[in-house]
Amino acid sequence: MKTFDDVEVRRPGLAQAYLALLAAQPGRPLALFAPRRVGKTFFLDHDLAPEARAAGLLPVYADLWLHKSAPLAAVNHALEEALDDLAVPDSRLGKLAKTPVRRVGLLGASIDLGEAPQRRALPEASALRLDTLVTRLAARHKGRVLLMLDEVQTLGEAPDGVSLVASLRAVLHKQRGQVCAVFTGSSQEGLARLMNTAGAPMYQFAQVIDFPFLGDEFLQRLATHFSTVHPEKTLALEGLQAVFERIGCKPALMRDMVKAMSAEGMTDARQGLQKYMASDHQVAIWQALLNSVDAFDQAVLLVLARGQAPLSQATLKALASIPGAKPTVSKVRSSIEKLKRGGFLSRGSAGVQLDDPLLAEFLMQRDSGRLT
Ligand SMILES: Nc1ncnc2c1ncn2[C@@H]1O[C@H](COP(=O)(O)OP(=O)(O)O)[C@@H](O)[C@H]1O
Ligand SMILES: [Mg+2]
Repeated sequence: MKTFDDVEVRRPGLAQAYLALLAAQPGRPLALFAPRRVGKTFFLDHDLAPEARAAGLLPVYADLWLHKSAPLAAVNHALEEALDDLAVPDSRLGKLAKTPVRRVGLLGASIDLGEAPQRRALPEASALRLDTLVTRLAARHKGRVLLMLDEVQTLGEAPDGVSLVASLRAVLHKQRGQVCAVFTGSSQEGLARLMNTAGAPMYQFAQVIDFPFLGDEFLQRLATHFSTVHPEKTLALEGLQAVFERIGCKPALMRDMVKAMSAEGMTDARQGLQKYMASDHQVAIWQALLNSVDAFDQAVLLVLARGQAPLSQATLKALASIPGAKPTVSKVRSSIEKLKRGGFLSRGSAGVQLDDPLLAEFLMQRDSGRLT
């Protein structure tokens, strides 16, 4: 291990357990749920895909978040790419070797490639296209396809979300011999809404699983690397555990923090976190994030950060102190919806809460005297 950035934890056992679950219930996807930035995509890429390949499946990945307006098209695109990868060898030479040359120019200067054997065109409608692509891909691969749909709650937010989900569900069921699917979601509410829109309760469609956070193994590796950099110092595991939990078990954030501690030769994780939160760099990021919403939304965030009831009379009264604001219950509601869509809020055990616990702390520190 050379740097803190190389500190990685692999979870092949978890991946195998998920694959076994999929095999045991054909046609039923798994939906892995966890907040943002705890390692879902990393897991799909580094653990699930290789284990799937080892088990003879063909993993195909699509990030639906990146294609919010046309999520099913994104799935189809990923399948088409996978089909291309199977059909066309990587190098041009390979292509030449496979395709009969139809015409060679007089001086041998122009070479026309023969056309690749044509199959019937794919259907235009994206649901039919999905159906056809899955069939072709599984036939080509001579094995099942593992469809990995990242941030699948996005489907529910698409304009024609209801019919999209119904199509996806129908194809996954009909083609269950050819395809299995793992979804991830970072909004529990979004996931619930999505699964319910298809007309049947979500537990009948996908099995929702709480995706486990990284644990001591990750923290231990950070501490070990710290000791190779500072042979005379050690990071106590307990301190790291407390801080990791406080920042919402986000590995990249934890790594950045330990890196900063290492640069200063600091060993107290709590102090490290304080310092990290107060750094100009971090404060600038939070300010920019907050400035992307208006003063009223920021005030609603503050209320939620403090754990106050957002729709209570006391809250409405406090919000009235914002210049120009005429707070009403419906205004607060629509602000909360907007903040959810923006990724600021998520639903936790205690109701709606800030997605980033550190942002909540930052807001409380910054605005300690306001809205009381
Ligand atoms: N198993 C892991 N070991 C080390 N770092 C990880 C691991 N999983 C995630 N990370 C780090 O956390 C970052 C965020 O993870 P990501 O998978 O993108 O989260 P999510 O998809 O849940 O939002 C990654 O870019 C990576 O740096
Ligand atoms: Mg992700």
